[in-house]
Parts: sequence; structure tokens; C-alpha cells
Amino acid sequence: MSKAPVLRLDRLLSNLGYGSRREVQQLIWAGLVTLDGEPIDDSDQKIIVQPDLATRMIVDDEPLDPPPGMALMMNKPLGVTCSHKELGPLVYALLPERWRRREPAISTVGRLDKDTSGLLLMTDDGALLHKIIAPRSNVSKRYDVTLDRPLRGDEAKLFASGAMMLEGEDKPLLPAQMEIASEKRAYVTISEGRYHQVRRMFAAVGNHVVALHRDRVGGLALPADLKAGEYRLLTAADLEQVLA
Ligand code: URA
Repeated sequence: MSKAPVLRLDRLLSNLGYGSRREVQQLIWAGLVTLDGEPIDDSDQKIIVQPDLATRMIVDDEPLDPPPGMALMMNKPLGVTCSHKELGPLVYALLPERWRRREPAISTVGRLDKDTSGLLLMTDDGALLHKIIAPRSNVSKRYDVTLDRPLRGDEAKLFASGAMMLEGEDKPLLPAQMEIASEKRAYVTISEGRYHQVRRMFAAVGNHVVALHRDRVGGLALPADLKAGEYRLLTAADLEQVLA
């Protein structure tokens, strides 16, 4: 396990978006920051940054925001984007306002299209992000796909072949699994993340995706009670599931 980082209290709070160094010093000197029930009056105090800090430190009567090294899952709604390059509201706008001022910033782990809903992971931990998206980690993603036209019947074989080419590309897709749910609905599991991959796979077999929803990343399923637009912090067990 990596060693827990140690940060000065004022740096920790300003990195979490509570204000400038000067502003958080005012909070600390006003006695509004407590650790294990005791006010901390020294803004230089060294703090060991561990996940349980969020339950032990209180800032202005509220538990501390998730300390650095956090990860969350969101049920991404339709119509919001993962990238500043696309038009429309960003997924970050669904997080508390202060979280948008964090350093290191929270980023999405891969992307979902604006018109795709479902399980989206986000983290401020660059090493974790790379571990999840690295090809060698082989983290699969499952999509619930609704189609415009009935399935032909040969899609699963073609997707699984490892020889399928997408238009404009020169490298075949890695094998993907497809499970038929009904005439116009299937679950597709892929282990790479090419641009608009699932939509393009179905376009290549003469179909059109009318709804796309990601319900699984690795072994982690989108919880049934996490509604569109809601998010939840990931536990260590959830992360193990992602990488399982
Ligand atoms: N494939 C797509 O076409 N879109 C997504 O958002 C994810 C996978």
C-alpha cells in the first residue's frame, strides 16, 4: 500500500476548494475546523491524508469533503457531456460546486457520449485513472443497447471474431461479446474504448443504436438505486470490483 500523503492543513483545505490559502486560514483561526472533536488553531499543522479524514474532520459544521485520492461513480444522464470540447452542460456541473475547484481536479475515467447514459467513474487520482483505462488492465465495459432494426443474427459472431474493422480505422477491434436480450436489444461487452465504438459497431452491420446505457465497468454494476444524475463515492471494495 502506498504511504498516506501529509499536507499542511491550510494547503489541504485550499486544494479541496474551500478558498484561497488566506481564506482557509481565517476559517482555521475562527475555530471552525476540528479534528476528532478538537479545534485546530494552527494552519500549518501537518495532516495525514487518509480516507477516514472525511469522518474525523469537520469544517464549518460539515464533514470534510472527500480527501484527495477519491473516486466516485455517477449515473450519467443523457444530454450531459464529459468533455469541454463538446457543447452542452458538463458532468462536473452535477458535482458540488466546491468540488470543481479541487486540485488535483476530478476527471472522468474515459468518456461516455452526450447521448449515452449510465455508469461513469470519476477520480482525482491520476494513477488510478490510468490503471483503469490502461489496455493491459483489460477492464471491460458493458452496454445495454437498443436498436432501430431487428438483429440480423450474425452480429455476435462478427463482434467476437477479433477481425471486425470500423470505418476509417486500420486495426481490427478486439473481440467483444454480445448477448441478445430481444429482437432489438442486446448487451455488448467491450474491452477497449474507441470513439463511438458501440454505435459504430452496429452501424457496420447496418443497424442504428437508438439508446445506449452503460451498466457495468469491470465487475462493478451500476446500482439500481443510483438515479440518473446521482453519484456515490467508491469504496475500496467497489474499486476491487472494477479491476477484478
Ligand atoms: N460506445 C459508444 O458508441 N458511445 C459511448 O458513449 C460508449 C461506447
